[in-house]
Amino acid sequence: GSGRRLIVAIDGPAGAGKSTVASRIARRFGLLNLETGAMYRALAFKALTHKLPLDDAHALESLTTDTVIRLEPGGDGNRVLLDGQDVTTTLRQPEITEAASRVSVHPVIRRWMVEQQRSLGAEGGVVMEGRDIGTAVFPDAQVKIFLDATPEARSERRASQTGAASATQTLEEIRRRDERDRTRAESPLKPAPDAVVIDSTFLPLEEVLARIEAVVQRRLDTS
Ligand code: DC
Repeated sequence: GSGRRLIVAIDGPAGAGKSTVASRIARRFGLLNLETGAMYRALAFKALTHKLPLDDAHALESLTTDTVIRLEPGGDGNRVLLDGQDVTTTLRQPEITEAASRVSVHPVIRRWMVEQQRSLGAEGGVVMEGRDIGTAVFPDAQVKIFLDATPEARSERRASQTGAASATQTLEEIRRRDERDRTRAESPLKPAPDAVVIDSTFLPLEEVLARIEAVVQRRLDTS
């Protein structure tokens, strides 16, 4: 099969387990794992350091003109280089999570990101993870997975991962981000018509992985 050119798109809301699943699938099939959320986080981080208002699309657009974001393979997820500087560890801060969500609503920013992400994945051989990979970045991806779970399940997982003070607060944040992701004008979060939708609310990780592996394997066998 043409495994080297394969593009696996994994989309879904925050906390559905995309990152873990994407990195395991990438390792299993020898593909490069690219976390597109990290690119939105990196730009948001730069906007915050420059004290730009996050609702100012024009200011953000000018910021992109001298911004270079690179994703490199790391042990546990991607290493993120922002203008040559490793910002990986900073990007998980709650302040940046919120800022990335706000930055990602602007159509002009989404178009810039989509362009970058297309060129990153152009060679194939990638698992690309995000919100709009199967719908906007690679609508022709051979494998499209939409990983979902109830907001309650997602906030509980997030709270136990991050040691957040309360799952209730995380639930509020998740609902707010979901709302923003699903209602934005440009490429809102939704499954591509041909995506395999997996609800992981009551599924153990190993079962989710087994299902996705089966989909990828079938693709490799028939290509
Ligand atoms: O997956 P994440 O939590 O690291 O994503 C950070 C933010 O970026 C999130 O609010 C949604 C947004 N995002 C997006 O709009 N499109 C993508 N392809 C990836 C992330």
